[in-house]
Amino acid sequence: MGMPGVGKGTQAARLCQDLGVPHVSTGGILRQAVASGAPLGLRARSYMASGGLVPDDLVEELVVERLGRPDAGDGFVLDGFPRSVEQVAMLDRILARLGQRLDGVFLLTASPAEIIRRLGGRRVCPRCDRVYHVDNQPPRSPGVCDACGSALVQRPDDAESVVRERLEVYARQTLPIVEGYLARGVLREVNGVGEPQDVAVRLRLAVGQA
Ligand code: AP5
Repeated sequence: MGMPGVGKGTQAARLCQDLGVPHVSTGGILRQAVASGAPLGLRARSYMASGGLVPDDLVEELVVERLGRPDAGDGFVLDGFPRSVEQVAMLDRILARLGQRLDGVFLLTASPAEIIRRLGGRRVCPRCDRVYHVDNQPPRSPGVCDACGSALVQRPDDAESVVRERLEVYARQTLPIVEGYLARGVLREVNGVGEPQDVAVRLRLAVGQA
């Protein structure tokens, strides 16, 4: 969990490599659906473009489908889900059905100024969704994805006005679930500031303690 741009995707990808489990990013799956013109993407597109949350029925459909695949049988890292009180209940229902349990919730933190700096410099690969930053995590060759050679782009929802809306949506709909997870004793806060590898060490430590 954490504010838009705090480093959830960057850290989830590293953690999954380390743990050998799939990285389930609802934002990533939705972006792929939009790019491919799939029905799910057509319905999600306008919500994503404006910075709002995609309706719960769509999110439930994609999470159930993804977590039901065989590679998720031994566990997974969720990135960007749940992000509302309703989605917390949704996750509980899905996990109960799958016979899985929630091991931990990790909240990455950074100041709003750092968030704006990160989102302003973010570049992503439209093909494989790999994330870069023009200063902090530049690709080997400027503007080109290290992994697949595609031209990097800025995410449309990283435009300043949409970022403002995403931050407001986070404060209004996602922050309230922090209290609930704290009360359940499963939430750990991880300082998201510093070199990505240093944040990864802190996160790994917190995961080990969960
Ligand atoms: P989503 O893709 O989940 O967006 P988000 O939560 O706003 O998070 P971001 O992907 O913007 O940032 P991040 O925290 O992953 O940071 P990153 O690692 O990229 O969702 C997009 C949209 O989809 C939503 O707005 C909504 O419409 C919809 N959606 C998704 N899930 C949904 C759900 N459950 N329900 C309903 N709707 C949903 O890092 C950011 C930048 O910082 C990068 O450039 C990176 O290189 C850099 N960086 C990372 N770590 C560091 C560091 N330690 N130091 C310096 N720079 C760093």
